[in-house]
Amino acid sequence: MSDLELKPFNVREIREEFPALRQQIYGKNLIYFDNGATSQKPKLVLDAINLFYSKENANIHRGVHYMSQKATTEYEAARQRIQRYLGARKSEEIIFTKGTTDSINLVAYSFGLSLSAGDEVLISAMEHHSNIVPWQMLCERQGCTLKVAPINLRGELIMEEFDKLLSKKTKLVAITHISNTLGTINPVKEIIEKAHALGSKVLVDGAQSIQHMHINVKEMNCDFYVFSSHKVFGPTGIGVLYGKEELLDRMPPYQGGGDMISRVTFERTTYNELPFKFEAGTPHIAGGICLGKAFEFLESIDMAAAERHERELAKYAEDMLDTFEGLQIIGEAKNKTSVVSFSVKGIHPFDIGTLLDKQGIAVRTGHHCTQPLMDFYGIPGTVRASFAFYNTKQEIDTFVEAVERSLSMLK
Ligand code: ALA
Repeated sequence: MSDLELKPFNVREIREEFPALRQQIYGKNLIYFDNGATSQKPKLVLDAINLFYSKENANIHRGVHYMSQKATTEYEAARQRIQRYLGARKSEEIIFTKGTTDSINLVAYSFGLSLSAGDEVLISAMEHHSNIVPWQMLCERQGCTLKVAPINLRGELIMEEFDKLLSKKTKLVAITHISNTLGTINPVKEIIEKAHALGSKVLVDGAQSIQHMHINVKEMNCDFYVFSSHKVFGPTGIGVLYGKEELLDRMPPYQGGGDMISRVTFERTTYNELPFKFEAGTPHIAGGICLGKAFEFLESIDMAAAERHERELAKYAEDMLDTFEGLQIIGEAKNKTSVVSFSVKGIHPFDIGTLLDKQGIAVRTGHHCTQPLMDFYGIPGTVRASFAFYNTKQEIDTFVEAVERSLSMLK
């Protein structure tokens, strides 16, 4: 369990842990609403990065010396903490990767080698490019077919259409848990049950879910769950692929190099056991250790209360923004998280984002790496405010005023 105590949810106290939130941009107090792109880091993570590179830097799995063994122990302890947090059966099921994109590419390459002509991969119309392109590349390589389950205008998966596309030909369903652009929470448990009933495996893209809700991969019963460290309060350049052991065991390595081997001769190489089989080369050691720290921090947060708080923020923001003439909320799913995307008739999202920036407010504008979704709505992009549990209602009041001011300047 956590080394930190689980405290009652208190936004003020949580904010104290995030130094980046206490700064001014263009003379205004920063309002950081770009958490969907990356989250800020708590002191526990920042201190651990500093400590590692100041005193503990050494390569892992290789050295007899004290520092190497200490770094190895900490790196593997981080893996175990992540395993416990996710409810995975074994730490061998936790593969460190560069991030969500790398994790998906690993599965697309390695699991993908078992697919051939006649097989199908099923995704949804709300996927991020990183959960589209690797499957397109796989289908081109292996001659299999990509199917796309459509969504309705509220931004929800149309389950009847999904059901029609899911068949015995489907070998993998790759679905986002939460849409990065719309905030829609997909019914992954239902999807997994249906896919398993027809013999398909399921990869859940958790890049936008793990920071918003408690995830238990055993309960979810997904075959793969992938996410990036930097969106869940850890460093960039590292992420996780969770996979069921029996699947990972059967999958060939993705990349060759040091650490992933058991024995190398010029004639033949045998591969290391899980998880190392998929971790060629010196990994992001500080990243792994500090991602462990991010989970240690998360263990101290009441995630159910944090989720309620975030949803309240989103509803509060949407109710006010909805009253602005010409403004359309993009993504009105019944079950959604704290992502508020909108477009305004006749105004480019970039212009709104630029004016908000000058008022100290960080949002993301554009297509959010979901161009097919933008085509579906017939818009070039949205302004997206994505909240984390450290955001407040007061920040939203300031944001809504700033949007109003910006629109009056642009109309
Ligand atoms: N995928 C990240 C986002 O949605 C970068 O902003």
